[in-house]
Amino acid sequence: MPETILESSHPGAATPGRRLRVLSGMQPTGRMHVGNYLGALRNWVQLQDGYECIFFVADYHSLTEATDPASIRPATVEMVLDWLAAGIDPERSTAFLQSDLPEVAELHLLLSMSTPLGWLERVPTYKEKVAQFPDNQNYGLLGYPVLQAADILLPRADRVPVGEDQAPHIELTREIARRFNHLFGQVFPEPQGLFTETPRVMGTDGVNKMSKSRGNTIGMLDSPEQIRQAVMTMVTDVERPRRADPGHPERCNVCSLHRFFSPDRYEEIWQGEREARTGCVEVKRWLAEAIADHFAPMRERRAELAARPGVVDEVLAEGARRARVVAQETIALAREACGLG
Ligand code: ADP
Ligand code: TRP
Repeated sequence: MPETILESSHPGAATPGRRLRVLSGMQPTGRMHVGNYLGALRNWVQLQDGYECIFFVADYHSLTEATDPASIRPATVEMVLDWLAAGIDPERSTAFLQSDLPEVAELHLLLSMSTPLGWLERVPTYKEKVAQFPDNQNYGLLGYPVLQAADILLPRADRVPVGEDQAPHIELTREIARRFNHLFGQVFPEPQGLFTETPRVMGTDGVNKMSKSRGNTIGMLDSPEQIRQAVMTMVTDVERPRRADPGHPERCNVCSLHRFFSPDRYEEIWQGEREARTGCVEVKRWLAEAIADHFAPMRERRAELAARPGVVDEVLAEGARRARVVAQETIALAREACGLG
């Protein structure tokens, strides 16, 4: 049953009875990996059935790290093609490019005035980035979660489907909205994060979250051969030194991916590992086949889409046109609340 608004308690909300609004975004980092898919993208696709959905490419956010300007556009096109192939439907959902809607920059500015510095200095990703890039500690990095709050509050979104690593940003968005509403009057709903049952997929190294920056990914729409190569490098059950020893499928990364990609046979595979009837190599080979098969229809669809030049530009242009309507309404409400204009 789709969730709908039951009552409205603030001027920026929502007519009772309308579908809840979902918003999420990703930085333009190119092709999607299995972690992006299981943690976020498949949820985006499913949510289209019950929610009003808005998805965007966070290109402003990508500037917080030293980024080659020439890489942003190709990475955007590659990523949006993956979204469309996975089932993001531009007829039902809005997909746009963040910098096509500079209203978000104004909302970022307004929200920054009431966001205490201490809240931002405590954000885990800020602390990680400062440690990772000591020579590039820019103001934008500290303001990253305020810009993310502006993304979410600009369309007055109710739900935000993301992976677990984004939970602190969603919590901070709620605090920023609450504080703004308290100081200036009710303008924003407090959004909630939406997580899948796999909110943190481990990488092929078996110790870190699957992430492009760690180079431990399995490309979602890669060729079967590329998928096989990535899967065969996976670190498996470290507590099973020899093939003859019993395995621990509940602690093995390959087995946990089977749970999703081999739903009909994963219990049998897990049992084979426990009884040392199977070894890591064959279990990995089956996983590579299962992943390649799962994504085969999307891979085909992606090839068709990629052969149609301009398809991404059309989707993003129409998306920006739609997203601008509510963005301008929110900016008017927020300016008025702050006493501007
Ligand atoms: P990456 O870490 O590879 O750069 P992003 O940070 O661009 O990925 O993440 C895009 C979306 O995918 C976010 O919603 C994020 O929470 C989700 N996500 C990324 N990696 C994973 C993972 N390993 N497990 C679950 N969700 C993930
Ligand atoms: N910070 C998110 C990431 O790294 C991307 C993002 C930017 C986002 N703005 C957002 C996600 C708003 C959800 C809602 O993946």
